[in-house]
Amino acid sequence: MFPLSKYLLQICISHLFVVVQLSSAVSFGPMESRGQLTDPRIYEASGLAISRVHKNIAYTHNDKDGIHEVFAFDINSGSTVATLLINNATNTDWEDVAYGPCFDDCITSTCSAQTTPTRYCIYIADVGVHVAKGTENVIYAIREPLTLQDATVDLVGSLAFNWTEVNAETLMISPGGQLFIMSKVFGGRALFAEIPASGWNKDSATWLDLNNAAVFKITTNSNDPLGGDISPNGKNVIVVGEEGIYYLSVPDNDYIKAVKNNVPIQVNTYQRVNNSQGIAWSPDEKGFYVLAEGRNSTLYFYSFDEFGLIVG
Ligand SMILES: *[C@@H]1O[C@H](CO)[C@@H](O)[C@H](O)[C@H]1NC(C)=O
Ligand SMILES: *[C@@H]1O[C@H](CO)[C@@H](O)[C@H](O)[C@H]1NC(C)=O
Ligand SMILES: *[C@@H]1O[C@H](CO)[C@@H](O)[C@H](O)[C@H]1NC(C)=O
Ligand SMILES: *[C@@H]1O[C@H](CO)[C@@H](O)[C@H](O)[C@H]1NC(C)=O
Repeated sequence: MFPLSKYLLQICISHLFVVVQLSSAVSFGPMESRGQLTDPRIYEASGLAISRVHKNIAYTHNDKDGIHEVFAFDINSGSTVATLLINNATNTDWEDVAYGPCFDDCITSTCSAQTTPTRYCIYIADVGVHVAKGTENVIYAIREPLTLQDATVDLVGSLAFNWTEVNAETLMISPGGQLFIMSKVFGGRALFAEIPASGWNKDSATWLDLNNAAVFKITTNSNDPLGGDISPNGKNVIVVGEEGIYYLSVPDNDYIKAVKNNVPIQVNTYQRVNNSQGIAWSPDEKGFYVLAEGRNSTLYFYSFDEFGLIVG
């Protein structure tokens, strides 16, 4: 009997070891360079989104007073592949771009992490403070083209909203089609709220429900945060600030609760690049990309493992 029980004990110990490994913290890989964006038309990239339809394609746009267009570029070469000029949109102060299901499709059919949308939309947030023009909070939605070439595209819709916050640079969309905005606050303790889908294509601005909002639990020495993204499976949130990148796990689709109750994990491998404002998950969720404002910016990638199996 003794050898058998010893054998069982060994199984138990090795099983325990696996459990301990799997429940340890998430981990991040080192900074990896991807393409450099040398297109002179991209001079102040303030948002980043990654296509889930076109392989190795990312979207960005310029900050305030730029042309009302989105650039599609190749992740590996950094070359511009297409520009999408948006009818009936103005760039007062574009601060972020998000990528996900189209709000109109989420009305007619269910959007969730378990359903793959038949098409995707690109959402642009005109939400910055533009001194001369005050605060304008408008989200524009366009459909992602099936073929990428220079084009003029129509809006699927626009959504004007109002809240207590004077500035924001972070827009995110969940696989369920919920849109979220996070304000930009000195010290980084920004307000996170949902933008209701009922606000699309209304004549007046929609007031956000701030009774159901949360404060993002980071403290920084800058006006933060500057950008964020929800992963395609909806379970991972990544946010970039001037001094760091912050990760939050959302196991149950309750983003407000996760922001309210949890302190984000700081990405320990992040090598700061000043003015990094664009951040977006890779479609396979194995990492995220970061892009800084300015000319000739390099796109950077950090791998991510939810089980902590990357040895940094
Ligand atoms: C777009 O703007 C033009 C005028 O600039 C207007 O005639 C047209 O109705 C607008 N389209 C939509 C969909 O708002
Ligand atoms: C937005 O809210 C602020 C503060 O309550 C108010 O002063 C402003 O007029 C509102 N703007 C719009 C467009 O509703
Ligand atoms: C980044 O910003 C910090 C703080 O403003 C500054 O000290 C540093 O020199 C900047 N780095 C570069 C490469 O510009
Ligand atoms: C960007 O790169 C191009 C060519 O690679 C160069 O001509 C230009 O001077 C660079 N611009 C800046 C601001 O570094």
